[in-house]
Amino acid sequence: MQTKENIQNIAPYQPGVLKAGAIKLASNENPLGASPLALAAVKANLDKLQLYPDGGCVRLKDALAEYYGLTPEYFLPGNGSDEIFHFITAAFIRPAERVLTAEVTFSEYTFAAKLFAGAVDYAPLQDGKYQLAEILKKITPQTRVIFLANPNNPTGTYFSATELESFLKEVSGDTMVVIDEAYAEYAAAADYPDSLRLLKTFKNLLVTRTFSKIYGLAGLRVGYVIANPEVIAYLNKTREPFNVNTLAQTAAAAALNDGDFVRRSRENNAAGKKYLYAEFDKLGLKYYPTEANFIFVYIGQDCAAAFQKLLERGVTVRPMRSFGIRDAIRVTIGTPEQNQKFSAALKEIL
Ligand SMILES: Cc1ncc(COP(=O)(O)O)c(C=O)c1O
Repeated sequence: MQTKENIQNIAPYQPGVLKAGAIKLASNENPLGASPLALAAVKANLDKLQLYPDGGCVRLKDALAEYYGLTPEYFLPGNGSDEIFHFITAAFIRPAERVLTAEVTFSEYTFAAKLFAGAVDYAPLQDGKYQLAEILKKITPQTRVIFLANPNNPTGTYFSATELESFLKEVSGDTMVVIDEAYAEYAAAADYPDSLRLLKTFKNLLVTRTFSKIYGLAGLRVGYVIANPEVIAYLNKTREPFNVNTLAQTAAAAALNDGDFVRRSRENNAAGKKYLYAEFDKLGLKYYPTEANFIFVYIGQDCAAAFQKLLERGVTVRPMRSFGIRDAIRVTIGTPEQNQKFSAALKEIL
């Protein structure tokens, strides 16, 4: 077998641990379940599974266009935003060209780069926060794609509209800037960017969002990219013919109308965040303020051992060792009962 070096160098993704009977607070899923409107749409389409999906995702793009007040040409759905990242690196990265991102961020950007034999540069965070000035310093003439997660996973921090706009002004139009807004619907900060407003000015801007988080549809796999029609038409060339399945398309379109579920999910998250902050404060633990549905917290002990001890107490979280951080975990904000169970288990192990 003749293998490719760029593929040999890929470390397979480690998903959050799922254990029967344990509460899973390891993958930033929605603890309230899935959008009821989406579930009804799934049931209503179960008699169509002998047919191929709509390859062009026409209804879903129409629904997205209506939701955002743009035209359908601005959207391209994918099998999760993970697939969108592959479209982007397939379309823009030639072997040895460079992707730029942050040191402690979502690992799929590195994976997408390596898949197409790209190289990756990393800029440091400060206090868990992207430093866009540091990212600018790392740009080279070979940098083709910059991935920025806002809010960031795993730290939950965000960069502001002003920071983003001054950053974009400094980046050449030949470098594509991807803002991964997987958790945007949770962000409540007044200065969180309205990135779509910037699409007309910055033709190299791509924004990705997902139905996996606030809409509770991680198992169906639907994400999408919003960008200028020329960029979308180009990315579309990299797509497999039926990349988003029928149930995912109909569920996603229905979920966009589920304002009530989104509101309840936001409220649950805000209340859970307040509760967990207070619990961490009582325990004297340092955490980063989050705009997402999870919290990065330093626990003052080895996170791999802590992970095991929490697992024994029926809770799974994400140890931060894969990011090179020995003494922190990331915990998804759950229901009030889940948060209490996690907090009690954490107290015990500390
Ligand atoms: C920052 C970020 N982007 C994207 C994703 C993946 O989203 P999807 O389920 O749409 O592939 C995640 C999932 O955890 C994430 O944390």
